[in-house]
Amino acid sequence: MTGDQGPSEVLESLRGLGLVGAGERPAMTALTGGVASDIWRVDAVRGPFCVKRALAKLKVAADWRAPVIRNEYEVAWFETVAEAVPEAVPEILGHDPDSGLFAMAWLDPSNHRLWKADLAAGIADPAVAHAVGDRLGRIHAATAARPELAARFPTDSIFHAIRLEPYLEAAGRVRPEVSAELAALVARTASTKRCLVHGDVSPKNIQVGPTGPLFLDAECAWWGDPAFDLAFCLNHLLLKCQWVPKAASGFLRCFQTMTAAYFAHVDWEDAAALEARVARLLPGLFLARIDGKSPVEYLVEDRDKSRVRDAAILWLKTPPSTLAALQADWAKVVVRESE
Ligand SMILES: Nc1ncnc2c1ncn2[C@@H]1O[C@H](COP(=O)(O)OP(=O)(O)O)[C@@H](O)[C@H]1O
Ligand SMILES: [Mg+2]
Repeated sequence: MTGDQGPSEVLESLRGLGLVGAGERPAMTALTGGVASDIWRVDAVRGPFCVKRALAKLKVAADWRAPVIRNEYEVAWFETVAEAVPEAVPEILGHDPDSGLFAMAWLDPSNHRLWKADLAAGIADPAVAHAVGDRLGRIHAATAARPELAARFPTDSIFHAIRLEPYLEAAGRVRPEVSAELAALVARTASTKRCLVHGDVSPKNIQVGPTGPLFLDAECAWWGDPAFDLAFCLNHLLLKCQWVPKAASGFLRCFQTMTAAYFAHVDWEDAAALEARVARLLPGLFLARIDGKSPVEYLVEDRDKSRVRDAAILWLKTPPSTLAALQADWAKVVVRESE
């Protein structure tokens, strides 16, 4: 939809933030693509910028509600990361907690592409995977070194409601044979409090620009287990192998590259212990993208779903302790077929 103006309360809020002049009536264009928020491009006199306002109910089939206050934690995530790794985030231009919205720099589509679109096209660029792992590792390391930040992200219950429940617990209800393993993953993840977690590091939330990948959509921000972010993102690289089989070996190389780049920054805990947590959590998330409340839209054939499900259940029952072992297992399933 292209509107001349957005909702009047949004315009008022932008005036209050000083981003729009008193007499100015900028065009606001609603963007599609997100499931959790209203997002507009605002063409103001100062130049284009982007506004994001959280919705009370997500636009997915299963009923899945999350408090609008998550918009505040999203801004807090961006502001915190801007202090440590500024090149990894768009600049925040203003924030209005009363209206539940914030404004950020416009990422021009002429020089930014969604990483998911590249992957869908079979483009497996190890430089992007390296930069994602590198930036994520730096964000985790910088925030792990600032434990006082935990107080800024009291989001345990939101994280449970929008991540642990719809993914891991929901999958456990559908697959009782691994519900105990999934419950154990929920318990361990929820009680591991180490650093600032983004919570939705997915290729659909990563824009690749002239200075590398930028993370968007931080509304699952949580003070917790770094394993969640790495497992969440690596999970997508495994799933993409099934989606675009001809690029499977490239995606698995990206998996390796991202892992190595990330672990170069792990100084806040024993790297092998963290890797073991990632390797255990990843199968839970793998299964969740088939049997949880937010299944990936691109795996629809029963055969494709079964392959993911079978591998996930096997890994949940006999967990691999390293990511290399997990990657090698999956390569046996997906690479042979594409060659
Ligand atoms: N700063 C921005 N500049 C340009 N486009 C943006 C910006 N922020 C978000 N978008 C667009 O909106 C889409 C959804 O944004 P996102 O923050 O992921 O919202 P949701 O929480 O609804 O998924 C992005 O994939 C991108 O296309
Ligand atoms: Mg998003």
